[in-house]
Amino acid sequence: MITKETIDRIFETVRIEDVVGDFVQLKKRGVNYLGLCPFHNEKTPSFNVNPVRNIYKCFGCGKGGNAVNFIMELEHYTYPEALKFLAKKYSIEIEESVPDPKEIELRDERESLYILNSFASKTFAENLFDNEEGKAIGLSYFHERGFSDETIRKFELGYSLADWSAFSEHAIKNGYKSEFIIKTGLGYPRQKDGEVITGNEKLIDRFRGRVMFPIHNLSGRIIAFGGRILKKDDKAAKYVNSPESDIYFKSKSLYGIFFAKKAIVQKDNCYLVEGYTDVISLHQSGIENVVASSGTSLTVEQIRLIGRYTKNITVLYDGDAAGIKASLRGIDLILEEGLNVKVALFPDGDDPDSYSRKHGGGATATFIQENAKDFIVFKTNLLLSEVANDPIRKAGLIRDIVETISKIPDPITRSVYIKQSSAMMDIEEQVLIAEMNKSRKQQLKKDVPGNDVEELMPDILFQQAQKDEGLTTESQEKNIIRLLLNFGNHDLHFDMEVEDETTPEQKKIQVVAVKVFRYIVEEINTDEITFEHRVYNSFLKKYTELLVEQDTVDPQVFLNSENPDFSGMAVELLSPRYFLSENWGTMHKIIVPEEESVLKEAVENAVIHLKNRKIQKMIEENQRLIKEAHERGDDCTALIERHMKLEGIKMELSKALGIDILR
Ligand code: CTP
Ligand code: MN
Repeated sequence: MITKETIDRIFETVRIEDVVGDFVQLKKRGVNYLGLCPFHNEKTPSFNVNPVRNIYKCFGCGKGGNAVNFIMELEHYTYPEALKFLAKKYSIEIEESVPDPKEIELRDERESLYILNSFASKTFAENLFDNEEGKAIGLSYFHERGFSDETIRKFELGYSLADWSAFSEHAIKNGYKSEFIIKTGLGYPRQKDGEVITGNEKLIDRFRGRVMFPIHNLSGRIIAFGGRILKKDDKAAKYVNSPESDIYFKSKSLYGIFFAKKAIVQKDNCYLVEGYTDVISLHQSGIENVVASSGTSLTVEQIRLIGRYTKNITVLYDGDAAGIKASLRGIDLILEEGLNVKVALFPDGDDPDSYSRKHGGGATATFIQENAKDFIVFKTNLLLSEVANDPIRKAGLIRDIVETISKIPDPITRSVYIKQSSAMMDIEEQVLIAEMNKSRKQQLKKDVPGNDVEELMPDILFQQAQKDEGLTTESQEKNIIRLLLNFGNHDLHFDMEVEDETTPEQKKIQVVAVKVFRYIVEEINTDEITFEHRVYNSFLKKYTELLVEQDTVDPQVFLNSENPDFSGMAVELLSPRYFLSENWGTMHKIIVPEEESVLKEAVENAVIHLKNRKIQKMIEENQRLIKEAHERGDDCTALIERHMKLEGIKMELSKALGIDILR
């Protein structure tokens, strides 16, 4: 862990205009800088850099953040990687919090596992190229499959000897501890009657007489192996893979990612295949943006890993219908993560490996381009052809497709797909929308138990929402956060009646100063209001926590936050006042600076409007409950009492709002 002190020093030292300036040509415009956005294609500059706040914001594509975010976005670095990059640029020494001895031990141990794997991979490669058995069996196999020596060396392929403990013995002779041989899974202890027999000489090799595929992590170190059997043997598994260890987490790794990451960014697309050999053959034929899930179903972590480099995945399959149907679920997962999926099927039982070997890289690339179908179109077609004229099965299909669409986080993309599948399935759009709303509600109930789903996700019922006049709840919440970020530390002055001890019957008026953040946070928390918008709500929680801890909140904390939701939002809400060009205010008829003088009114209004909206929703919900209880013939006294109470609060609020409206 990089210490907080180091992180603070990095943030104090970095100059956003320097950091961005290394990648983008910037021109000074007033106090700000302007340049061409590195994140999207543009001809006229809309990429702003604000040295005062130390942030950037593109008004073209909307990306924005601090220097760390910039490096993360541009170089696809993780948060600590970006910090280290900046520390290096400014020669700041990185201090890592002194890890406890356990942590050091674990780190040393991990290091030992990497070193042993590297030794193993070298041994397997030596077997392949220099050993008679390896050459005769392993190397000739790879050559037969069309792998060139260059490819074999690049992927560090190898061969494990057909012997019970050749590798383990060799490793121990070279000073490697049996403990690590066991932990990497390269060997395991011999057992007799269920008892482990300990002792170095007793280890059995996991990989015997197999060609070896090392699995690399993002930075190219070997974390595991897959070994393929060469003989036809019905009893032995075709592939044996390393077990999970302190350096190998199956669900988080993708075969080939190290070799593919650069090409994935360049092509802005990632091909997903099934096997080691598919990755290698495609590489050899010049298609490098490819990774394999290695036979298991795709996990969320793997999708997010790809998502660091591109938002587009094309799944490549051999055209066997059973296999495809089995993997439809996994593909839903990609949509759920907000990535775009296409599917390309290879003909006549060819897989990417055999196809690219037969036809070469150019033809393979063309084939994929011409045959990649949008996943939802693909799935609809596939299932439609199955149900034919069976109406009951068609109903099931509709539900299935709609469920897939409902997983897409972006409402606009969802509605595009609804339109498209409505045409394909010959079903009215309205029917699909209703079905989709049902499905989304169910999903949300699973995700956030105990919350009122309708309130949490305003866009579920986007049709109704469109009818709603005035501000959306979301923009009301956003406004409150804007006030907190921009004016949180400002004072509001209130008249307060105080009792004078000497003359208790005479009330005195005293002016008290209350910080904006106190006013807002207390008003909101006493009424137990939570925000509907997930990010806004977690912002509010964090803000309240910080207030309890340190009695004041510096907006810079959010600008510098590791959480991209926070930093992105802070940039957006803090930017307008600083990024405005001279005539922005007159252009949009927004009088920004004056807001401070009418701050009190703005804050009070924001809070009252939000409360009013909340009360309205609570009343509606309560009325629904009353209606249901009534239909069941239940006693509704308690609900009616609650109704009266809510109406009372609403009256109070309306009065406050009335004054506001009349003025
Ligand atoms: N796999 C596995 N264990 C098995 C079978 C398969 O781990 N018993 C994984 C491997 O990662 C393999 C992938 O699933 O690469 C795809 O399996 P398959 O298509 O059978 O293997 P290929 O790698 O394509 O091998 P080949 O072309 O030599 O048949
Ligand atoms: Mn294959």
